[in-house]
Order: sequence, then structure tokens, then C-alpha cells
Amino acid sequence: MPEQGADRERRRRFTKTPGSSGRRRFPIPCAAPAKQSGFVRPFPEWRVVTVHFIGAGPGDPELITVRGRRLIEACRVVLYAGSLVPREVIACAPEGARVLDTAPMTLDEIVDEMRAAHAAGKDVARVHSGDPSLYGAIGEQMRRLDALGIAYDVPPGVPAFAAAAAALERELTLPGVSQTVILTRTSTRSSPMPDGEELAGLARTGATLAIHLSIRSIGAVCETLAPLYGADCPAAVVHRASWPDERILTGTLADLAKKVRPLRLRRTALILVGRVLAAETFDESALYDAAHHHLLRPRKKKRQAAG
Ligand SMILES: C[S@@+](CC[C@H](N)C(=O)[O-])C[C@H]1O[C@@H](n2cnc3c(N)ncnc32)[C@H](O)[C@@H]1O
Repeated sequence: MPEQGADRERRRRFTKTPGSSGRRRFPIPCAAPAKQSGFVRPFPEWRVVTVHFIGAGPGDPELITVRGRRLIEACRVVLYAGSLVPREVIACAPEGARVLDTAPMTLDEIVDEMRAAHAAGKDVARVHSGDPSLYGAIGEQMRRLDALGIAYDVPPGVPAFAAAAAALERELTLPGVSQTVILTRTSTRSSPMPDGEELAGLARTGATLAIHLSIRSIGAVCETLAPLYGADCPAAVVHRASWPDERILTGTLADLAKKVRPLRLRRTALILVGRVLAAETFDESALYDAAHHHLLRPRKKKRQAAG
């Protein structure tokens, strides 16, 4: 159930700028956490948030949110996913902060850092690439923190697929072409896809696809999709979207893999597939159509004929 307007307003007013300790005070949820009960939080009390799962955005340090940056500036412990988050994003950590790249760490080691910070009354900026809700492995961290009784919040970030669409200067949802975007990946030995989520199955929808973590399998991806989307379907790879060395390759399902292969890209690349990527003829949306009236642009009343 979505948060009601009054509660949202209360949360906005009660959310304080981090003080010298970097601690933000949030109202405590009712006895059962909202995510278990599905119940709207009534905000009856305060709670202290220790860990902030911050979306760093796709790489460009200017694409982190204002809130995310302010939190990093205030936290005395900064744990960042260094395989995808550039150091420039966390360069604003306060002097003397404990700053660790978690790429070589285990989950136990990461949670131990959070637990130690909590015990010492320090806040933690846990910085993940893009938006933490996508392939961020925050679910397992939050589950550990729940068990430890350590409170957290999740300031969101700009996801890589949005940065890739921006780099391509394309809208991913065009009227009459595609109105659905599927964010997905392909399986690896360590991360198999759940039943029913294989690429070929998703492709039957004809939706625009944003395929993560799959650049090494670009050949297989294009081969799987070509019979379903047509070999002439536009496709693109955006490597390190928003980074200074961003690269864009465009083509079709028939030739994209061949274009990409010589670059030997291994990671930090998104594969986008769909007719939206090259569509020049598409319907205009009803929203701005002069003949379409709605709540915010009601039909004008006819002037009374001058008597
Ligand atoms: C572990 S996932 C993290 C996704 C991230 N949480 C998000 O919201 O975009 C890593 C994958 O996201 C994609 N990715 C992340 N940053 C990217 C970037 N700057 N440019 C292109 N792809 C990126 C790549 O497919 C990469 O393999």
C-alpha cells in the first residue's frame, strides 16, 4: 500500500540533515516492520538509522542524489562497492572516515564492519552502484541487519539502464512501439535464472530489454533474441555509461556481437534491445495532445456569446 500524502509529508519534515555524528533520526515503524506486514508505517516514535544503502548512480559523481552525497559527507564509515563505484563518488567522505572497498570482502566481513560501527555510534554509508535495488545484494545485508536489530534506510540512485538510455538519447517506451521495459540478466554458473525468467521466455513479450551482467555472452544473447525480435531489430551496448571513457555501440541483433567482440568488454556494460532504439515513426502520446483533456488541462469552457 503506498504511503499516504500526510505520512509522506511528515517523513519529509522529520527527516533531519545529518548532524556532526551523521545520524539521522527516523520514526520507528510499528511492532511489525512494514515490509513484513505490508502495513503503512504510522511513524509513532523515532529510530536512529545506522546504515544507509546509498545508490551511487552509474559512475559520474554528479549523478548521485543530493541526499546520497550529503550522507557520504556525514558518515564516519564508508563501505563502497569498488568494482563499479569510482573513488570520485566517495571522495567527499569526511576526513578521518574509515573508507573500505568491499569488492574483496565477504558478506560476514561487511556485516562485521557495520556491527562495529553501530556499537561505536558511527553511521555507515554503504555505497552501491546505480540503484541499490537492482543486483545490489542488499537483500542479504538487510536480512543480517534485521537480525542484529540495526536500522537502515535506502536512498535510491540513478540506475545504469537509465544512464545508458540517456547516453543513447533514446526513450525506452514509445507509444505504439513498446510500453514495457524488462530489466534482466542472463544466468551464470554461480547465478542461475529462476524458472520462467530465461531470456527466450521474456523475449516473447516483445518488450524493450535492458540486459545486465551479460556482456561476455553477447553472442548467445543476440542468437537467442534474433528469431523472436527479428535479426534486424536494433540493439546497443553501452559500456561504462556516464564514465569519462563511456563507449556506445549500436547495430542490430544480426551484427552487434561482431562489432562488440574486438573490444573484449568484460564488465560494466548494458545490452539494450528493442525497436524503440531506432524508431522514427511512432505515435505521439495522448498526454500533450491538444484534443485530449484531463484533470490538469481541462476542456476550456466556451465563452458566452457576447450579448
Ligand atoms: C551488479 S549490477 C549493478 C546494477 C546497478 N545496481 C544499477 O542500478 O544499474 C552490475 C551491472 O550493471 C550494469 N552497469 C552498472 N553500471 C553501469 C554503467 N555505468 N554502464 C553500463 N552498465 C552498467 C552492467 O550490466 C553491470 O554488469
